Amino acid sequence: MLSARQAPPTIVPLRFLLFGVACLLAASVWLLVEPGVLLGPYVRPHTVALAHLLVLGCATSICMGAMYPVVPVALDSPLHSVRLAIPHTILHLLGVIAVVPAFYAWEMRGVATGGGLILTGAVLLTYNLARTLARTPRFGVVAGSVATTLAWMLLAMALGIAMAISKLHPLLPGDPMRWLHAHAHLGVLGIFVNLILGVSLKLLPMFVLADWRERPRSWAMLAMLNGGLVLLASGIALGSRALAIVSGLLVAAGFGIYAMEIAAILRARRRAALDPGLITFLGALAAIPPTCALGFVAATIGQASLAPALRLAYAFAALFGIVIPAIVGMLYKILPFLVWHRVYGPRVGREPVPTFAQMVSPPLQTATSTLFLVALALLLAGILDAQMAPVAGGAALWLLGLLCFVGNVARAMRHWWRSPPPAARERTKP
Ligand code: HEM
Repeated sequence: MLSARQAPPTIVPLRFLLFGVACLLAASVWLLVEPGVLLGPYVRPHTVALAHLLVLGCATSICMGAMYPVVPVALDSPLHSVRLAIPHTILHLLGVIAVVPAFYAWEMRGVATGGGLILTGAVLLTYNLARTLARTPRFGVVAGSVATTLAWMLLAMALGIAMAISKLHPLLPGDPMRWLHAHAHLGVLGIFVNLILGVSLKLLPMFVLADWRERPRSWAMLAMLNGGLVLLASGIALGSRALAIVSGLLVAAGFGIYAMEIAAILRARRRAALDPGLITFLGALAAIPPTCALGFVAATIGQASLAPALRLAYAFAALFGIVIPAIVGMLYKILPFLVWHRVYGPRVGREPVPTFAQMVSPPLQTATSTLFLVALALLLAGILDAQMAPVAGGAALWLLGLLCFVGNVARAMRHWWRSPPPAARERTKP
């Protein structure tokens, strides 16, 4: 069972999580104002800027923020240094604020500089969590997933900076599109999907009250996903389609084992009903097979006229179908957990306190997942058919769904401001 005893002060993750939600909101408004970013060739300044507002501003910030409490709590090892989180937060926020406008203006010096700030922050996070992991009583598959996520994060960011510098001085050899695809796969699969899969093996059993024990197949899943990604990135960078396809199959086999783990957890659960947050998360997992299929078609179709739209649809489905809904589903759990422990933890037994579930609105949760699903279908149809109307309609519905989610974030945060704890003395460990 998880205990909040090991968690760092709530404000440490909260800054990242709220910044991530603000970036997601900004990106969704942008999509509505400029739906044309999703039509036509995708390596264009505005499209790349929007992509990084989402991947760096939203997804990376939220993953980093979630790692601060989840790693110490799930692995029963206190955070090595709370103090190091402060320069990390400043570097990351400044880096994102610099990098997105630099992409927008296609100013590669700004991209490399902003990227350098983000990478330096990520190095601090990696050092901090590596020291934390070194003290965990048992280095299991969840710790392995966190460690590999951090490694991919550094590599994806370093490659991004190298790609930006290459546009000013020759640095990376060969076709830039290959590096771009390798970079995007390292980021999406190595950071987001890897972390979501690994950490969910610890969190999901807790949320549905199921016993889950790590077994050899859990390690096989991690090995296939990460080994497959090493080969996939190499295959893409070397331009070997055969290697890319074989390694893609290895990654897909890793997903297959993960699906078996999730099915076993759900079968063993003692909490029969699944709340809308969990359904959103499971819906994101269900989007993995069709997205992989889209990726295989995009990789094998060659230079057919539909190829650019398929590649864009594949990247889009990975972000809007898997990564963002999974993050939203997990945030419904993590955010109330953090706020509850900070505000109500000291009051338990002394006065009535709400449950985590009472801190968010289920109808708003259902509205978010329904609107996201319809919006995703419209947006994908618009991208594949190169039609503005479904893209604009999908962007409007997506924004509406997101506003429902932001409403729930505000509901959870209301407790933070409304009810300061009697003696708001959180542990502040240097
Ligand atoms: C230090 C941080 C980063 C820097 C400096 C950076 C740099 C770049 C550059 C220069 C490009 C355009 C390449 C070209 O046009 O040839 C690009 C594209 C891309 N990057 Fe990053 N990147 C960073 C982090 C990430 C992360 C963490 C992800 C996570 C998934 C990511 C995902 C992508 C994607 C999906 C594209 C393609 C976007 C599109 O075509 O619209 N990047 N990146």
